Amino acid sequence: MEFNNLLVEKSDGIATVTVNRPRALNALNEETLGELLACFEGLEADASVRAVILTGAGEKAFVAGADIAAMKDLDAVAARDFALLGHQVMHLIEHLSKPVIAAVNGFALGGGCELALACDIRFAGDNARFGQPEVNLGVIPGFGGTQRLPRLIGKGRAKELLFTGDMIDAGEALRLGLVNRVVPPAELLDAARVLAAKIAAKGAFAVALCKEAVNNGLEMEMDKACRFEADHFALCFATADQKEGMSAFLEKRPANFSGR
Ligand code: HXC
Repeated sequence: MEFNNLLVEKSDGIATVTVNRPRALNALNEETLGELLACFEGLEADASVRAVILTGAGEKAFVAGADIAAMKDLDAVAARDFALLGHQVMHLIEHLSKPVIAAVNGFALGGGCELALACDIRFAGDNARFGQPEVNLGVIPGFGGTQRLPRLIGKGRAKELLFTGDMIDAGEALRLGLVNRVVPPAELLDAARVLAAKIAAKGAFAVALCKEAVNNGLEMEMDKACRFEADHFALCFATADQKEGMSAFLEKRPANFSGR
């Protein structure tokens, strides 16, 4: 599929999606959000894709936010539609049946930070900067930042970032648990690829069920969540991968998973 504002490449079961509007620091306008939606729907349907890396074009920004120029003159109805379009994208990424790794290569601000938060795992270059600067613009986050940020790093820390609009560097993001790992910028994509390949070698169905159990279970009461986990665990026993994984262990050989 060809996009105006995205680059997509696939190799060895890993798709790399690059938000590509470097002149606006990869800011998300309606067209780019629509393309992300179409792109991730395509990746969901493509059985050859087992992991996804999401990054930004250029050396300066992952995504510097929603496009401020495009938002400035919106009325309330259009603003809500724009927010809901963003939510659709974030929801699709968060619930994609494949792992999505954000490779944060620079500014991840506002909608850009929210995009990274919707991914499963975040790696950052040591030049990355994170923040929810919406209050500086007289608005609040609109792509899930008030919800995913506190769920990830805790209410108090999230509120400090949300209320001040302050930017933090990659080291502070690591300390807060906002990112999983910080590496030199030149090594970022390779580090993300190594992780993606490692996950892609596992049973794809088991990885998908893990993701679903974490994402959905965290929104439930503990008892219901544990039952949800048990049901997902049981479902694994309907797969060839469970037979293969356990046989391989007992036969002292590496497992060869088929994703079925
Ligand atoms: C539109 C943007 C942009 C954005 C940068 N640009 N961020 N355009 N929307 N979010 C454009 C600039 O206007 C400029 O265009 C070019 O990219 C380079 O940016 P500079 O500001 O010149 O670069 P620099 O001085 O290095 O500063 C980098 C920066 C700054 C600190 C990242 O650009 C910045 O503060 N950007 C805005 C960050 C922000 O507030 N994000 C949250 C947006 S609200 P020209 O044409 O002048 O070269 C949001 C809400 C989400 O995300 C929810 C919506 C429902």
